[in-house]
Amino acid sequence: MAQCGWHTVAFPCLTRAIVSQLDQPTAGGQNRRMGWNILVTRRIPIEGIDLLRRSSANVRWHDEETPLPRGELLSQVRSCDGVIITGGDRIDAEFLDAASKLKVVSCIAVGYDNVDLTEASRRRVTVTNTPDVLTDACADLTWALILGVARRVVEGDRLTRSGEWQGWAPTQLRGVDVAGKTLGIVGAGRIGVAVAKRGTGFSMRLLYFARRAKPEMEAFGARLVTFDEILRESDLLCVHVPLTPDTRHLFGELEFRKMKPTAFFINMARGAVVDEAALVRALRERWIAGAGLDVYEHEPQISPELLQMPNTLLLPHLGSATVETRRRMSVLAAENLLAVLEGRLCPNIVNPF
Ligand code: DGY
Repeated sequence: MAQCGWHTVAFPCLTRAIVSQLDQPTAGGQNRRMGWNILVTRRIPIEGIDLLRRSSANVRWHDEETPLPRGELLSQVRSCDGVIITGGDRIDAEFLDAASKLKVVSCIAVGYDNVDLTEASRRRVTVTNTPDVLTDACADLTWALILGVARRVVEGDRLTRSGEWQGWAPTQLRGVDVAGKTLGIVGAGRIGVAVAKRGTGFSMRLLYFARRAKPEMEAFGARLVTFDEILRESDLLCVHVPLTPDTRHLFGELEFRKMKPTAFFINMARGAVVDEAALVRALRERWIAGAGLDVYEHEPQISPELLQMPNTLLLPHLGSATVETRRRMSVLAAENLLAVLEGRLCPNIVNPF
């Protein structure tokens, strides 16, 4: 709920949990000095909010885990100069039309596929993201999925808790070795490189697919291959590309059919990079051995069949979810927003115009 010292706005048209600095009297009984109007659409770590509060901005904060209903979002953003948004908010022409004063959309995420950059740029609305600070957290969780699917970690946990475990048995819950296997990395951005770096510790053969050779990848012994090769050669194939018109459904029936029947598919990028129906078929019909997924095509909806399959390890979009990383993302999102509004240099603009 509301952070201490703030109080809930009492207008029935507003979400209960939206709190506002506008309504907070200062020691002298006056309202804070009016500044930029900023909306934060979701609960974020307090450090970013504190940063905004220390500026002269008027901050409205939807301090809830769930997104603002669309109608309310559109009405809240009407008077805003800046907004901090999460992946669940769709920033399209309708949103931007409703926000005629808007100067900056600050994404608390590295991915910004939920923002229509063309429409934003057309209206001279700057869009920013939070790269770098989440690279290690996302690479670590990729490895959690890799080891989780290869070594059947979740199944083991379930068996241990079930009360049915009879003790050590030579053929029980056998996974597959990771050491010595081929790790394919699709996408050679920051996270892909950090996944490769970790792969060197597991004595793996590292392959990657990208538009061009990346010295950072080669430094870890990874070899650039064609898309076809990476599909056919990988024992563990992980995806680290942004969602764009070019990468939507990059993985479909054709691609899964090319993979080894013993291979595991890991998606930490965006759900729509994968045709989820084709993935379900690939898993059901054993074209591939299993999948570790952090993202889904129609998030938060998940194909019901995926939920039933023993050869899937499913996480609820936790890539960057550590206390330290989310704190850094919160601060960076606030810094980006204030830098744009105040006309200072901002290194994280994704739509320079
Ligand atoms: C990101 O930063 O893009 C994460 O996936 C959260 O949306």
